[in-house]
Amino acid sequence: VTDRRSRPPSDHSIASIDAHGYVVSVAPGLLGRAGEIILAAAPAHRYAVISDSNVAPFYADRLLAQFITGLGQPAGAVPLCTIPAGEAHKTRDTWTALTDQLLGAKLGRDSAIVALGGGVVCDMAGFVSATFMRGIPVVHVPTTLLAMIDASIGGKTGVDTPHGKNLVGAFHQPAAVVIDPEVLNTLPVAELRSGLAEALKHGAIADAEYFDFVSRTANALLAQDPSQRDVPALNHVIERSVRLKVGVVTADEREKGARKALNFGHTIGHAIELLSGFTMRHGEAVGVGMLLEATAAERDGITEPGTSARIRDALANAGLPTMRPAGPSASSIIEVLHGDKKSRGGAAEYAVPTRIGIMAAADSGFTVRLPDALVAEVLA
Ligand SMILES: NC(=O)c1ccc[n+]([C@@H]2O[C@H](COP(=O)([O-])OP(=O)(O)OC[C@H]3O[C@@H](n4cnc5c(N)ncnc54)[C@H](O)[C@@H]3O)[C@@H](O)[C@H]2O)c1
Ligand SMILES: [Zn+2]
Repeated sequence: VTDRRSRPPSDHSIASIDAHGYVVSVAPGLLGRAGEIILAAAPAHRYAVISDSNVAPFYADRLLAQFITGLGQPAGAVPLCTIPAGEAHKTRDTWTALTDQLLGAKLGRDSAIVALGGGVVCDMAGFVSATFMRGIPVVHVPTTLLAMIDASIGGKTGVDTPHGKNLVGAFHQPAAVVIDPEVLNTLPVAELRSGLAEALKHGAIADAEYFDFVSRTANALLAQDPSQRDVPALNHVIERSVRLKVGVVTADEREKGARKALNFGHTIGHAIELLSGFTMRHGEAVGVGMLLEATAAERDGITEPGTSARIRDALANAGLPTMRPAGPSASSIIEVLHGDKKSRGGAAEYAVPTRIGIMAAADSGFTVRLPDALVAEVLA
């Protein structure tokens, strides 16, 4: 977690980060060589690519061409399964449609899946891979910042239900993760910004210096015109956050302890994301969640005064929301978060820092209980 080896990579170097059992590779232009990595990490008789309706038109051909030239698959033998873009489609119905497509294309046990897309595609394709023929390999080729630094790493897969997010799923580690930062050039800035919230979270839970770096450079990372962006800084964010997430999840693959730190901002964040009917992006909701959870923990005496103010400033620097949507009542948010996270006797569990870079309750499961009444006060 305190690995400080990462430096801004020079433009053409490949960073290979060992995640115990699979490697996360990061390099500009890597999409053009993804085929080699897929073949080596997940040798299979047949492949299928799962993507979404926004990403496939940009990048699917480039990936599919490598199956024909490099992997000896005849043209047309690799089904491209394209799901409609958006969180609203991360459902059991989409899982059914995808598995039917794979069965229809006669993929068997000796197949592998390539996930080409953001966190929704990674979670969805991951869950399909976890369950198809009782589990076949998946290689993630994440195309959003959020998926690069978070959703593609650690093996959590799943779908949403009307009762809450990610309530049906499985742990299924990828065979490899292939990150080409250049694909971020087509990502809408609002999505890039949403991913930056998770980078701020990584800093807040484990590395104060990194937190300040992300906050300070946010503006230069988020230029509307990709050619005006601070690319070395953006590549540094990807590499630093990947190393940090890998460090946490390899120490705790099944979320028994340290991994819970990654839930900072997510107890309240998931509830407001769900109650917004997914009009709020995941990262936007997590940003506000971090601010509100830190505020409550400050009032409870767990977190150092001034911590929530630093989070508020960092969110503002990144142009992320600092207020929750006004619609849902405090009590409805609390009701939803009780359904999402373990709760007992008028209090729910939260992962919060004692100050930026240091987590509370590190020796007792990385979770604290905050009284509902206090959280309600902060939400109001
Ligand atoms: N499994 C995990 O550990 C984990 C961790 C964090 C988040 N998640 C999940 O990830 C999801 C959020 O992921 P997200 O923020 O990537 O959302 P997303 O997958 O919906 O992608 C955001 C939008 O950007 C589009 N897009 C993606 N890449 C693009 C590109 N390169 N160019 C143009 N458009 C592109 C998508 O089509 C979509 O419209 C949530 O469902 C969340 O629960 C999972
Ligand atoms: Zn998240």
